[in-house]
Amino acid sequence: MLNFEFYNPTRIIFGKGMIAKLDEQLSPQARVLVLYGGASAERSGTLNEVRAALGSRTFREFGGIEANPTYETLMKAVAMVREEKLDFLLAVGGGSVMDGTKFVAAAVPFEGEPWDILTSKGEAAKKALPLGTVVTLPATGSEMNCLSVISRQSTGDKLLFSNPLVYPRFSVLDPMRTMSLPMKQVINGVVDSFVHVMEQYMTHPVDGMAQDRFSEGLLSSLLEIGPRIIAAPEDYDLRSNLMWVATLALNGLIGAGVPHDWTTHMIGHEITAKYHIDHARTLAIVFPALLKVCREAKRAKLLQYAERVWGLTEGSEDERIDAVIRKTEGFFEGLGVPTRLSAYDIGPDGITDILKLLEAHDMTALGEHGEVTLEVSRQILETAA
Ligand code: NZQ
Ligand code: ZN
Repeated sequence: MLNFEFYNPTRIIFGKGMIAKLDEQLSPQARVLVLYGGASAERSGTLNEVRAALGSRTFREFGGIEANPTYETLMKAVAMVREEKLDFLLAVGGGSVMDGTKFVAAAVPFEGEPWDILTSKGEAAKKALPLGTVVTLPATGSEMNCLSVISRQSTGDKLLFSNPLVYPRFSVLDPMRTMSLPMKQVINGVVDSFVHVMEQYMTHPVDGMAQDRFSEGLLSSLLEIGPRIIAAPEDYDLRSNLMWVATLALNGLIGAGVPHDWTTHMIGHEITAKYHIDHARTLAIVFPALLKVCREAKRAKLLQYAERVWGLTEGSEDERIDAVIRKTEGFFEGLGVPTRLSAYDIGPDGITDILKLLEAHDMTALGEHGEVTLEVSRQILETAA
């Protein structure tokens, strides 16, 4: 196993009706900014539940954070917090609102140009306001990690930062608040979580016994949840399972002490930046193609995944690997999520554009061995054509 430090300070408050518990988490003197996205939080009643829980506290609201949150919008929230001397941020939404709130938390006390938080990958942030979240979309794991992905309209960049200062103090996970999601977003959550697990699992073995078994458990759960949740969208237990699996997929636990390969996310972020395709849908395009191109580096783990998650034990090694890659692709396609660039009308020129963005962002040595050069990324994208 590799050396590691594991730290996760986020309190999880899980279950039906738990938004009321906000009252216990916030000081009566807190001056709160509630941040949310478009109309969904109001329409679904989640915002009203939050307002009721805040009671007589001083609070303001900031709506309009977009899917793939932008620096331009978030800087307006930064100005509001500074002007009104607010001291606690409460995100009500999915990954975009949570990520946006993390950026605001780090940007408010930042001296200088807050975009430097992104270009320094988070290192430049030395202080942050405290924040909490109320999750309405299980997918990103942002509710229990210190990552944030922010887009900048003026330059077309989509960059990631990470800093322990922006771990949420608490996150409320009420599966009932996900019932209003369009099925497409629910399925995006299944795919995003699946790929998060894979990026901490599908590398090479380092004998991380618990990490591997945890990961395989999460993958098996997602394989089961995906088709069942389409058939039974109102099932509270399925919603609960998806919500908790999504959180566990990216809260640091399964990734401690094992190698990672975030190639799929890094290429996916560029596809979203250029073509505005939903985050999870970009991953479904890239991930199967990555497995095909990097099958030798991942051979041992592909065989382990084939056996333990899919029960594939018959045939030669190469036949089992072929079969499990087909099964993984079939899982995404079976959920209605395309695995090809052509499904979005992205052709050879598009591939060149995506590669240019990767180069501009120094994404030229990705993967668990730093061997995914631009040339390998080209092969991956061409395989996904
Ligand atoms: O804006 P509203 O009206 O709220 O609608 C949202 C949005 O259009 C809607 N929605 C959310 N909860 C709902 C709902 N609609 C009905 N009922 C509800 N309960 O869903 C749409 C998508 O929301 P968004 O927050 O954008 O989705 P997601 O949670 O998938 O987040 C995607 C963002 O997270 C980043 C992605 O890059 C992307 O920017 N990521 C963040 C990560 C992290 N912090 O760890 C890791 C991820 O891999 C990812 O990169
Ligand atoms: Zn993701």
